[in-house]
Amino acid sequence: MGKTLLVAVLLIAAGLFFVIHQPALPPLEASESAPADPALIERGRVLAGIGNCATCHTADGGKSYAGGRAFPTGFGTLYAANITPDRELGIGSWSREAFIRAMHKGIDRDGSYLFPAFPYTHFKNVTNDDLDALYAYLMSLKPVAYQPPENGLRFPFKLRSLQWGWQLLFFDSKPLQPDPGQSDTWNRGAYLAEGLGHCTACHSPRNAFGAEKKDRAYAGALVDNWYAPALNAQQPVPIHWTEQTLYDYLRSGQSPYQGVAAGSMSEVVHKGLKQASDKDIRAMAVYLASLGNDDAQQNDAAALAASTIDGAQQRTANDRSHGENLYIGACTGCHYNAADKPIALRAELSLNSAVTADDPTNLLRVLLQGIAADQGTPGFVMPEFATLSDDDIVSLADFLRRRAAREPWPDLHKRLTDLRKDLQK
Ligand code: HEC
Ligand code: HEC
Ligand code: HEC
Repeated sequence: MGKTLLVAVLLIAAGLFFVIHQPALPPLEASESAPADPALIERGRVLAGIGNCATCHTADGGKSYAGGRAFPTGFGTLYAANITPDRELGIGSWSREAFIRAMHKGIDRDGSYLFPAFPYTHFKNVTNDDLDALYAYLMSLKPVAYQPPENGLRFPFKLRSLQWGWQLLFFDSKPLQPDPGQSDTWNRGAYLAEGLGHCTACHSPRNAFGAEKKDRAYAGALVDNWYAPALNAQQPVPIHWTEQTLYDYLRSGQSPYQGVAAGSMSEVVHKGLKQASDKDIRAMAVYLASLGNDDAQQNDAAALAASTIDGAQQRTANDRSHGENLYIGACTGCHYNAADKPIALRAELSLNSAVTADDPTNLLRVLLQGIAADQGTPGFVMPEFATLSDDDIVSLADFLRRRAAREPWPDLHKRLTDLRKDLQK
């Protein structure tokens, strides 16, 4: 780390002294933009879903793709750009070349560097062919004349030229190469997950400069007060993910052993991946299952789930704590499962990552905010319990950890206080 820090300081100094810039690309003349083939546009629409472009590029209550969604970072707040084809405020004057350069290299049409909150570090893996479809789709949208707020990063981090150094340190523009030792399906899954799907943007921890730690890919991370659990061999779920459970979860947002897609994952599944073909979802499931790689568990999953639930029920019966009382009174009406047949929508809390992960954020957040009908599984509601006192919530969370045979979470009170504060902002 010491060496990296020194190099980073030098590069930041260089970025401050020389305003580093790439060449601007000429604007597209209005006469040059011909409407594209409808089949290409349709393919681009599906790809935009897999890339979650609309989720990041739409502000709460704003027009789709017009930008303005805030990205709080450790260095201040950044706002997503308007990527509708408005010629002044969007990307209407961007040529195909300018779009491809932005997606592959993180450089704006005018030549300045873009910040990696825009996941070009993943989009670099997307083929020109797929980018053509995406470009055709974006250019087919209705232009929206909306100016997103000014980048609110603090000095010197707001200087785009500093990204020159960041890229030198943390960005390898070479696209992902297919692995000839793996099947076509696996390679397709890797292409989607590591490219447009940018799964590790949330599921991998980052270093102090906001770059993903490559050696800890899929090790789990906290992003905007949601915890994206580990999907590698350290995954916290007692019943490890398999190709089939991953397929179910990514396709429908539900898996009997692991529960439902809530929080930011809900948008990934119910908005983003919704239009993707079954075949592409299957390919991602094949690829992700290989990261966990737990063949030993596969055949015994049902028996292991049953004994885990059974154990949890016995611990519940023997516990007389305040947390247990709260659990019986407030949760079991909906979250009760027969040991041999857990149901996804009754999320079995002894098997669920919200309880078994090292980070308590998802459990606390779901208790504070509930899951509204338009979040999580469409039409299903989990009530909020924000009126419980901090002591109550901590007792309940402590009990749920005991019930799932996990060590207590340290510093739970502090995490809860911080989360309440953050969610009020
Ligand atoms: C995780 C959030 C996120 C996702 C997902 C995302 N973007 Fe962005 N994008 C951003 C942010 C933030 C910026 C602004 C970066 C900056 O100001 O440096 C941006 C900037 C851009 C730009 C540069 C526009 C300009 O005027 O400078 C383009 C083009 C773009 N995004 C296209 C896309 C496309 C296409 C997709 C989907 C495949 C996508 N983005 C997905 C967050 C995201
Ligand atoms: C914007 C952030 C974000 C992105 C991008 C994202 N995830 Fe997630 N993911 C989450 C969060 C948060 C959770 C926890 C949701 C929950 O427990 O209900 C999660 C949960 C999951 C889970 C369930 C893990 C568990 O043990 O409960 C799987 C599987 C998963 N994601 C796969 C993916 C795949 C595959 C991609 C890429 C296509 C992806 N995620 C992209 C944030 C994200
Ligand atoms: C009225 C029924 C109901 C009650 C009471 C209830 N829940 Fe839920 N809970 C749900 C439903 C339904 C979901 C799934 C929501 C969705 O998918 O949109 C859920 C989801 C969850 C999740 C998210 C699981 C995941 O896989 O991401 C957690 C954690 C959770 N509940 C914990 C609790 C706790 C703890 C209590 C007691 C304080 C409780 N719930 C009380 C209905 C309920």
